[in-house]
Amino acid sequence: MENSDQSIHGTWKGRWTFILAATGSAVGLGNIWKFPYMAGDNGGGAFVLIYLACICFIGIPIMIAEITIGRRGRNSPVNTMKKLSLEAQTTPYWTLLGLAGAVAGLLILSFYSVAAGWAIAYIFSAFNYSDSSVVTSTFDSFLASPGKLIFWHSVFIVLTIAIVARGVIEGLEVWISKLMPLLFILLVFLCLYSMQSGAFLEGLSYLFKPDFTKITGSVILAALGQAFFTLSLGMGAIMAYGAYMPSKQSIIYTAFSVASLDTLVALLAGIAIFPIVFANGLSPSGGPGLVFITLPLAFSSMPLGALFGIVFFVLLSIAALSSSISLLEPSVAWLVESLKFKRKTAALILGTIAWSLGLLSALSFNLLSEFKLFGRNFFDLTDFFTNQIMLPLGGIFIAIFVGWVMKKDSILEELSIKENILYKIWIFILRYVAPFLVAVVFIGYFL
Ligand code: TRP
Repeated sequence: MENSDQSIHGTWKGRWTFILAATGSAVGLGNIWKFPYMAGDNGGGAFVLIYLACICFIGIPIMIAEITIGRRGRNSPVNTMKKLSLEAQTTPYWTLLGLAGAVAGLLILSFYSVAAGWAIAYIFSAFNYSDSSVVTSTFDSFLASPGKLIFWHSVFIVLTIAIVARGVIEGLEVWISKLMPLLFILLVFLCLYSMQSGAFLEGLSYLFKPDFTKITGSVILAALGQAFFTLSLGMGAIMAYGAYMPSKQSIIYTAFSVASLDTLVALLAGIAIFPIVFANGLSPSGGPGLVFITLPLAFSSMPLGALFGIVFFVLLSIAALSSSISLLEPSVAWLVESLKFKRKTAALILGTIAWSLGLLSALSFNLLSEFKLFGRNFFDLTDFFTNQIMLPLGGIFIAIFVGWVMKKDSILEELSIKENILYKIWIFILRYVAPFLVAVVFIGYFL
């Protein structure tokens, strides 16, 4: 393709920028907040095993597909899908995939921002909790305060809007390249702390020793949804970033790097957290509060804990920001391209929509806690519907598009490879394995 290195939003110059941005998008609350509590809620080892299998056999192949589409299209996901369906001479209805992704992004952002607000609020925590009941009741009373939750949710959304308004091309590199390694080091340090908590082995075996009797349809669906969520797949975030990727970079190598780093961070978070859970007689199925209870407890009992606590929650908030911007970017890029909005206006309007929806999520922990649908409050409902339904569906359509619709030559050209055995395996996964598995999981769950 002529001019294949151009997108109207620009292209990332640095060799590492795409990897950094995609890793920044992938590594976030999903790894440190959600993965441990989902593992705890779903029985530990068996969930982790299925989650890892979903990453390898569905997540990575779909990530390669999503980046390939993005870079080939060089536009916002909506226009990329339009352009590529023209190129493949097929129905323009594929554009709907881009549109659904943009909507999913805003929906996810709405509750993500509420939880990210907790992380910011915890920067200002005192980290001198005497025992587990004090930390737990502190977290509970925090959730019971609509004002506090809305305040921190608003702070987080404003930061997200501000970054996206300036453009995700600039400014991101420095933050992610310096701070992500720091977060990583801190997690390793927390794992070392956990080693001497007295329940290290118990924590490890909870996390890695599968109890197959715990596997149910909903555990499998949860693991599948978590795999999509943690890799930022299925809604166009990685596609939007792919549009800014220089054409010389290897998509395959990049996808493997991002997925490995992401998985490593999630496992480290689990290894750090579960021993603390057991050492303090807490329940692993403590739900969304797990990280906000275990880690403050750990910080309270270690030397210089207050300092470590502050640094940890600052880094967690930044990791959440580098993820949230990728949730807003696809819809903003589309308004800028198609409706000629200014980037600032688009970010403000769409961010405000996500903020308004997020209010309902924030209130679902207090004023609206009685309001439930299918046994879930608004926060859980948005989370469930986006992560466990929309993302796997989006992912499957991405797999089908690359596997069945795109021309082989376009794909090979984009990946700069020959039609070798690995390519054939990958296409086989996209065509048959991934759609089949996701269909089975859905059917298993709903029956
Ligand atoms: N992957 C991020 C996390 O683990 C969240 C996220 C960012 C995301 N962009 C996304 C999830 C796109 C799904 C789709 O915290």
